[in-house]
Amino acid sequence: MVIINRVNEIRKKVREWKSKGLRVGFVPTMGYLHEGHESLIKKASEENDKVVVSIFVNPIQFGPKEDLSAYPRDLERDSAICERAGADVIFHPKNDEMYENDFSTFVDMTGLTKELCGKSRPIHFRGVCTVVNKLFNIVCPDRAYFGQKDAQQLAIIKKMVRDLSFDVEIIGCPIVREEDGLAKSSRNAYLSNEEREVATILNKSLMKARKLIEGGERSSKLIINSIIQTINSEPMARVDYVNVVDSLSIEPVENIESSVLIAIAVYIGKTRLIDNFTYEL
Ligand code: PAF
Repeated sequence: MVIINRVNEIRKKVREWKSKGLRVGFVPTMGYLHEGHESLIKKASEENDKVVVSIFVNPIQFGPKEDLSAYPRDLERDSAICERAGADVIFHPKNDEMYENDFSTFVDMTGLTKELCGKSRPIHFRGVCTVVNKLFNIVCPDRAYFGQKDAQQLAIIKKMVRDLSFDVEIIGCPIVREEDGLAKSSRNAYLSNEEREVATILNKSLMKARKLIEGGERSSKLIINSIIQTINSEPMARVDYVNVVDSLSIEPVENIESSVLIAIAVYIGKTRLIDNFTYEL
């Protein structure tokens, strides 16, 4: 496995592979990899001849008061994970390799970016769409793999690929969880021991909501209230958002009549965590 920092070098490598008819899988990440990322890389290596993992903490998807400078980084550990999971190349560009001083072109999606994380993080998805566009143009993958934990991001990327006619297949992969149900996330590293215990409240609140829906409850309002109540039972937890949206359009629904995404964002202390499940009807 090799680490490549330059755009022209990764392009050359991928061109070489493609001239031999090899299929390229791609896993875009911001590093500090966990078992969720590892499962994406493993799947990519099962389904493709070559696998590229990008590690780039994308500055333009963080708001001015967010955790860009604190975002955890550990390239050595990440390299070991990538190698063991079957990656061939890590693409690890510096900021100025991706964004020159006069950078001024952004990909800004309407509609799907309005609710959930788009509401609490207004510039976030513009940054995500822009960097994923650039990465797709640089890596030219046949398939790209994204986790279902960022369900809104996954829906947005699928729509962007359709809207902008990218020749890449987007594959969504299931959330990987800790034994106690907490969704794996690079941001779990911010949690103190006490906060780590409290953080299980996210999944608990969703499991309770799932039971209610499975028992026949169809009112989004009631489901949302149940989740908020469960989360508020933990004094260290603070709801950012709880919503029930159509899983494709990400528009809020009043009654659960089609496939819905139940998505939450919760602050545990200063750390903002997200989780979700999709209910297929
Ligand atoms: O999901 C992430 O880690 C990031 O949003 C992504 C897709 C790598 C873009 O920076």
